Amino acid sequence: MTVHFIGAGPGAPDLITLRGRDLIAACPVCLYAGSLVPDALLTHCPPGARIVNTASLSLDDIMAEIAAAHAAGHDVARLHSGDLSVWSAMGEQLRRLRDLGIPYDVTPGVPSFAAAAAALGAELTLPGVAQSVVLTRTSGRASAMPDGETLAAFGATGATLAIHLSVHVLDRVQAELTPHYGPDCPVALVFRASWPDQRIIRTTLAALDPAVGAGERTALILIGPALAQQGFDDSRLYAADYDRRFRPVGTAPRFPE
Ligand SMILES: C[S@@+](CC[C@H](N)C(=O)[O-])C[C@H]1O[C@@H](n2cnc3c(N)ncnc32)[C@H](O)[C@@H]1O
Repeated sequence: MTVHFIGAGPGAPDLITLRGRDLIAACPVCLYAGSLVPDALLTHCPPGARIVNTASLSLDDIMAEIAAAHAAGHDVARLHSGDLSVWSAMGEQLRRLRDLGIPYDVTPGVPSFAAAAAALGAELTLPGVAQSVVLTRTSGRASAMPDGETLAAFGATGATLAIHLSVHVLDRVQAELTPHYGPDCPVALVFRASWPDQRIIRTTLAALDPAVGAGERTALILIGPALAQQGFDDSRLYAADYDRRFRPVGTAPRFPE
């Protein structure tokens, strides 16, 4: 018996890995975080599967479901939105499973920042402009930010920021980042990336209207000069004079077999 943690992707039901889909189809128990995981993914569950929306359950309740499946020898598909490596609450579940000696594995998913970048048709790392992407958030009711992980600190690097869980505090984002990126820095808001009602707002830090976030929950804030998608150099990857293992230049390649 294994608990399979599966990244369910950003919302579109076909943005899941083949491995994730096949695991759902093979598991007699499916626990899913119903607030963001699309119902359509549940159609992959086998007939008669026990399907539980964990949105209203406590960690103890979820562990009780898993313990019951373990006792019955039933594999569990555990679905969380996006990828599991960020803001999935997987860590605390894995800690309990390790303590209980219950086996698990993890199948990655498409993270929402990648779905948002795809919706924008944007590369977030452009030569000479930005070579880092910071996945971050602002402090919320339930989660304080550790000391040092401030927007200002990340903004000081000039990297592309992908700010999660923060569309309701756009005024704070604007105030803290304008001193670092300047008023003309491009900003993109992607609401419900990959959902049928996906919406995009492209603006600048100065023109950003904090009111557009009112009543919204599922949105990514992307900020940084790379979002302009201009003023950058070609990468060396495809440069004709760049000697590479797979495209050697000259008759005496630097990378012998
Ligand atoms: C609890 S976190 C989950 C993150 C998820 N594990 C991931 O890989 O993206 C929820 C936040 O992720 C962002 N998010 C999740 N799905 C999104 C989507 N389809 N479009 C835009 N933002 C999304 C929003 O900022 C939302 O507040």
